[in-house]
Amino acid sequence: MTSADVLILGGGSGGYACALRSAELGLSVILIDKDKLGGTCLHRGCIPTKALLHAAEVADSSRESENFGVKTTLEGIDMPKVNEYRDGVVARLYKGLQGLVKSRNVTFIEGEGKLVAPNTVEVNGVNYTGKNVVLATGSYAKSIPGLEISGRIMTSDQALNLDYVPASVIVLGGGVIGVEFASVWKSFGADVTILEGLPHLVPNEDISVSKALERAYRKRGINFTLGTKFASATQSDTGVEVTLEDGKILSAELLLVAVGRGPNTANMGFEDNGVATERGWVLVNERLATNIPGIFAVGDITPGLQLAHRGFQHGIFVAEEIAGLNPVVIADINIPKVTYCEPEVASVGMNEEEARAAFGDEVNVYEYNLGGNGKSQILGTAGFIKLVAQKDGPVVGIHMVGSRVGEQIGEAQLIVNWEAYPEDVATLIHAHPTQNEAMGEAHLALAGKPLHAHA
Ligand code: NAI
Repeated sequence: MTSADVLILGGGSGGYACALRSAELGLSVILIDKDKLGGTCLHRGCIPTKALLHAAEVADSSRESENFGVKTTLEGIDMPKVNEYRDGVVARLYKGLQGLVKSRNVTFIEGEGKLVAPNTVEVNGVNYTGKNVVLATGSYAKSIPGLEISGRIMTSDQALNLDYVPASVIVLGGGVIGVEFASVWKSFGADVTILEGLPHLVPNEDISVSKALERAYRKRGINFTLGTKFASATQSDTGVEVTLEDGKILSAELLLVAVGRGPNTANMGFEDNGVATERGWVLVNERLATNIPGIFAVGDITPGLQLAHRGFQHGIFVAEEIAGLNPVVIADINIPKVTYCEPEVASVGMNEEEARAAFGDEVNVYEYNLGGNGKSQILGTAGFIKLVAQKDGPVVGIHMVGSRVGEQIGEAQLIVNWEAYPEDVATLIHAHPTQNEAMGEAHLALAGKPLHAHA
């Protein structure tokens, strides 16, 4: 098949979700990827890094087991074995995904595609056409000008595949990737220092969450400098040396560069065919249509949050849009975010500062401390759930920090997206003893009837 209703370039989270949903809706689909189906998320991102983070949690549990009266000795980290476990997880999911795509009759074409006309993508000399074209080519790990990625200076792509635990690491960037890798390496026994140019770690989060994560990292012995920019780095056979703009020099075995991801759109014929871009990002309206009729773009190549689940949602949205189902737009602000470091960070909706900017004094905020939550005490974690609501109105943001709080994001995003009022949630029952109870308690308190909390 060389022509289809939907022609998708890129088989990552956005592209394959679009393929599966389009096929479900009875549309014929061609899906093109130069690499393995599943993209960054499955092969180089979410899944393999979360496997490492789980191994890190197991290491922490053995190290701290005496606190629970269990005697174990952590002998060390067998990195090849950790990688084998990680690869096994990826391989099973990859097999499942290939099966799904096949069973829905999606035509998968392996090869590098280039847009050669608004409705045509060329792969290895063959032209494939679509009534609709969906660009879903994803993102790549960026560096900063003058900092070459090679040897001991690496991005998450190489860091993920190390077959040893470095003795010491400098992590450039205290965003999502930076704090997650710092967390893994610290748990595996490395000496870790994060360099963040802005005044806080995870600077896109509510400031109270950033501060709580900083306290937790200090306690874990993870070093960081905030508000100082990186100046330069050099490497030798034995290590790297990093100079900061304030003249301070740091050295370590490796340097991880985690300063953001850029759109994968160069030399793919997008601009040549009139698709409007800005610094490489493909510009779309809120319905994910580009300026060229019949061409859509989804996921990390569009400006905004770079999250796999945003890619899935974009893919499904475009499939339904093409099928004429008029799907509902979800604003980026209401997309849930989880950072899987220890302790975890999870949030959805407006943070306090954003809510105050939007509603002035008409904002209610409540922070429920996990100190009052039974299950959190059993786990031995600290943290909180912070609610941001409009006065006499709905909850507009939920911000959390603490071990395993990422698991609470499901209810949090329902509350925010369904525009629930604190009193709506307060009447519902949260099972005891779970960490999820803290969600109920926070809403009880905000509704004026705190149970295990002070008003
Ligand atoms: P990021 O944008 O989250 O963080 C990059 C950090 O580097 C920023 O805090 C920035 O201030 C800092 N920075 C940039 N230049 C610097 C300099 N010269 N000196 C010091 N600091 C500097 O990007 P990151 O962490 O690379 O992640 C890329 C994308 O992947 C993000 O959009 C993230 O959301 C996504 N991602 C999501 C995950 C999740 O949902 N759990 C996991 C991993 C990545």
